[in-house]
Amino acid sequence: MITIKTPAEIALMRESGKLTRDVLNLIGGSIRAGMTTKELDKIAHDFIRENGAYPSFLGYGGYPASTCISINETVVHGIPSDDIIVRDGDIVSVDVGTILDGWQGDAARTFIVGETTEEKKKLVKVTEECFFKAFACLKDGTPLGDVGYNVQSHAEANGFSVVRALVGHGIGKEMHEDPSVPNYGRKGTGIRLKAGMVIAIEPMINAGVYQVDFMPDGWGVKTRDRRPSAHYENTVAITENGAEILTL
Ligand code: CO
Repeated sequence: MITIKTPAEIALMRESGKLTRDVLNLIGGSIRAGMTTKELDKIAHDFIRENGAYPSFLGYGGYPASTCISINETVVHGIPSDDIIVRDGDIVSVDVGTILDGWQGDAARTFIVGETTEEKKKLVKVTEECFFKAFACLKDGTPLGDVGYNVQSHAEANGFSVVRALVGHGIGKEMHEDPSVPNYGRKGTGIRLKAGMVIAIEPMINAGVYQVDFMPDGWGVKTRDRRPSAHYENTVAITENGAEILTL
């Protein structure tokens, strides 16, 4: 069931979204080669709690941390660890969700640490652009297939591939609501978005093949060819004439 949010509810989601954004900005300003992903997770966790919110990932389906931190060939759902050290040249995707006054925000960024390769730089840039290509088509009445089409066509035009095994989602009082929001699709197909729907659009773009492997820890997802992957996500509210990014 897809829920339609009232303007007052979207105002509350805006607050949660801003906090989610602030967490990512804090991590972006803190991340350095030599830090562990666990240290970064603690920074996020403490900041969320200090701001009167709860980290939505913590305990979700048994997930053991407040963020997902996924380096290089890890696509998403990397569990922060004392044993994983951020290194110069890494691309580090940080995904975080907050619950503030009962409303969810969910967003991710991929940070470049130090100097990296041209391929990784392009991958990070194109992944962000994929989100904005999708965002540009959003308004009351947009077929959901257009979102996936816009992400996929931009990624593939740049020689990259789109992960199929994981998708974006509706969001509200729950982190994962209907509809599913694939990063692939055909123009003009699928349900039509309506003003008041709120969705998380989250392109996961691989430098090589689109296939992924699920790790034995039950969470981590890596590219099958172990080439790099990037992730970029925002929570977005559909409005009458367009859409509003709640986590930027
Ligand atoms: Co999400």
